[in-house]
Amino acid sequence: QVLILDFGSQYTHLITRRIRKLSVFSLCISGTSSLEAIAEHNSRVIILSGGPHSVHLDGAPWLPRGFFEYVEENGVFVLGICYGLQLIVEMLGGEVKAAKSSEYGRMNIGTYEGSVLFDKAMEQQVWMSHGDEVIRLPEGFSVIGRSKRNSIDSLKKNEMGTLNQNGVDCLHENTIAAIENPSKRIFGLQYHPEVTHSPKGMETLQYFLFEVCKVTADWELKDVLIDEIKTVNNEVGPEDHVICALSGGVDSTVAATIVHEAIGDRLHCVFVDNGLLRFQEKEHVMSTFQADLHLSVTCVDATDRFLSKLKGVVEPEMKRKIIGKEFISIFDDFAHELEQKLGRKPTFLVQGTLYPDVIESCPPPGSGRTHSHTIKSHHNVGGLPKDMKLKLIEPLKLLFKDEVRELGGILHVPQGFLKRHPFPGPGLAVRVIGDVTEGNVLDTLRQVDHIFVEAIKQAGIYDSIWQAFAVFPNIRTVGVQGDQRTHSHVVALRAITSEDGMTADWYNFDPKFLQYVSSKICNEVQGVNRVVYDITSKPPSTVEWE
Ligand code: XMP
Repeated sequence: QVLILDFGSQYTHLITRRIRKLSVFSLCISGTSSLEAIAEHNSRVIILSGGPHSVHLDGAPWLPRGFFEYVEENGVFVLGICYGLQLIVEMLGGEVKAAKSSEYGRMNIGTYEGSVLFDKAMEQQVWMSHGDEVIRLPEGFSVIGRSKRNSIDSLKKNEMGTLNQNGVDCLHENTIAAIENPSKRIFGLQYHPEVTHSPKGMETLQYFLFEVCKVTADWELKDVLIDEIKTVNNEVGPEDHVICALSGGVDSTVAATIVHEAIGDRLHCVFVDNGLLRFQEKEHVMSTFQADLHLSVTCVDATDRFLSKLKGVVEPEMKRKIIGKEFISIFDDFAHELEQKLGRKPTFLVQGTLYPDVIESCPPPGSGRTHSHTIKSHHNVGGLPKDMKLKLIEPLKLLFKDEVRELGGILHVPQGFLKRHPFPGPGLAVRVIGDVTEGNVLDTLRQVDHIFVEAIKQAGIYDSIWQAFAVFPNIRTVGVQGDQRTHSHVVALRAITSEDGMTADWYNFDPKFLQYVSSKICNEVQGVNRVVYDITSKPPSTVEWE
């Protein structure tokens, strides 16, 4: 029902997700899709996402010729968000200009009474992220909301760095924040209603869909399950065998369970111990698979294979690529062994790739992602070698973490599994800064991580935290332990809250808890004399340190 045209914003897929939360089916395709590709979806509503470009730049993504004629003829409602709004304005004859000062972060806007998009006049906080602004509207459009000029005090309260070096308010007055042309069914928001930092954003999206566009709420997550089972059945022939790499996390477990529903015992799971796992992870995961899940799992001990390839490697992207490649090579070997056993070679590989993994990696060809900037290559996307022999099945690639957990519940995956904190595919390699094979850094990190996470469980706060882990920054500091000078390692603790891993805030522990964990670590883990706690959100940081 709702089609989102992606112009490369980091938030695009949040729009998809927010709309699905409202029980409306939504799908996202590239903003530069042809008119035919757009029309194929026959959507009642099209949302144009934000993006990192300026409409004036050469090569900036543009809507296909005939787009506005198409939407008018077919009675389609259009909502432009940020870049999407600017594109509407520029393409329909208005004017967009580089703003004298950009608006990034929390802002206040005022909406006008009597508009179609906002049912009432109100002041609200929103999340802005733009360097261009609309200065002249196309014919037939009216302004329905503007940024409010903030006083220096309220800016300080908003915690945003919008003051210039001299402490002068560098916001310009009354930037256009929302526009509409109801008779053409076109609307635009300069801010991002899809992010939680726009507290009333969800309300606005809801009002737009149900009151303005009269969309019906008739979609359920279990529809994805039915579709995915059908897709797997169509793709995998009746004689084909499939391999699944189980990591012990939520994603691969749910992915495997979906494929198992579709093809039964032609699914063969493999769990790889790459030497980069957490404390007693292998034992814990294997026993849970055996006791609770009815999947057949082979455990491959590949510690030496991974660590020998990682020796001396310090560059984060290089680590990810090496690990991704080694995983695939192990799956190839596993497939070969199965071939001996079954008399035919498995042809598919299941991966628990999620939407955020796809968004934040280099766009794979044909994925439709062409404009967003690369942050880091998640190994299950960016690191796949071109000569990989197995075809991929990724049943979760349109889903976000919370949707996967919900789907797991529908599939009766044990809650203990569903509630596990996410763990990155490249494992502890992206939590040790520098060479992972040096000394006993991995063991030290494992011990610290275990103490931290166990303490969190004992404190009863594990489920309120999205992810908690330790990092080994590979720095030595001076300390004093038992009246002796020490020159030992620092470890960092990170705990975050998040909805989907796309944005995150650091978790605000009780200081007594941090005090307890810090002294336990320094007392019990040899070679550590300092503990620091990471108090950075995402953005500007990412969740993992590498
Ligand atoms: P970042 O560090 O990108 O993390 O902010 C967002 C979420 O993704 C997890 N993560 C990964 N997961 N392969 C994965 O399967 C990877 O290469 C990878 N890198 C990060 C991270 O733990 C967090 O939950």
